[in-house]
Amino acid sequence: SLTVPFVQEIAKEPLTGVPERYVRPHHERPIISTTTPLPQVPVIDLSKLLSQDFEETELENLHYACKEWGFFQKKFGQREGEGVEGYGQAFVVSEEQKLEWADMFFILTLPPYLRKPYLFPHIPLPFRGDIETYSAELKNLAIQIIDLMAKALTVDIKEIRELFGEGIQSMRMNYYPPCPQPELVMGLNPHSDGGGLTILLQANEVEGLQIKKDGSWVPIKPLPNAFIINLGDMLEIMTNGNYRSIEHRAKVNTERERLSIATFYSPGKDVIVGAAPSLVTQKTPAVFKTISAGEYYSGYLARELRGRSYLDSLR
Ligand code: SIN
Ligand code: FE2
Repeated sequence: SLTVPFVQEIAKEPLTGVPERYVRPHHERPIISTTTPLPQVPVIDLSKLLSQDFEETELENLHYACKEWGFFQKKFGQREGEGVEGYGQAFVVSEEQKLEWADMFFILTLPPYLRKPYLFPHIPLPFRGDIETYSAELKNLAIQIIDLMAKALTVDIKEIRELFGEGIQSMRMNYYPPCPQPELVMGLNPHSDGGGLTILLQANEVEGLQIKKDGSWVPIKPLPNAFIINLGDMLEIMTNGNYRSIEHRAKVNTERERLSIATFYSPGKDVIVGAAPSLVTQKTPAVFKTISAGEYYSGYLARELRGRSYLDSLR
């Protein structure tokens, strides 16, 4: 049925194998076999970009990372210590599709009027406070990074800010229990993020995220005290394809549970999303059709999570 079991309940049973509904066909399985060491995503030192002594070369690094990878890690300082919302599994649209070996909790966090606290009366108070603090900090960080991207592209910051309108922030907290046969399942289906900028915290630093780089899957090794940042479909559209919304997926393992928290900063629903006007020229015509952000989100959420197909349908 479309109401699916909690994976952590399945994982509590003494298991010798995974139920059929989770077993992927061979070509979708997450093991990457390679004899040569794989390139790693760039690391950007944002302190060089957000402080008084701005370093132009780091902006070039940011530019390169956004253009070539669509993914980067950002070290943070030692000091810093109804619908789709809710707990369970999203993007389940048919009984035939394979399920993910993970449970998640998804909520809208900003602007505050979008919150639905009545849906979650049992969230403990300290956690509510933590979300409040974290969400405000991450909104600021997201805007600062997006402004830097505009700068790197030599686009007026106002153009991109306007395309976000009253930005929406949402959070997806992922819990991947250990799995007796990790080679057969997928923790999170290959997808590109639908929104603007994603800031991902690998909450317990267990490896699992893989990204598609030039046609091959590349694992991201979580750095201690670093966020993983990636660009979603909306930023690829706004940058007129200069920056990339990259397919990624998550694998699980036999030994350790894995926790991650993705915080998305995306355009408000009423915004008509298209390329920043100054990036559309005779030589560089608009790559994507314009679409209202709200319409994009509805379409994105109505499908099984699959690659970049939805974004590419707007070409
Ligand atoms: C995500 O795509 O939401 C994050 C996947 C993960 O690393 O858990
Ligand atoms: Fe994602």
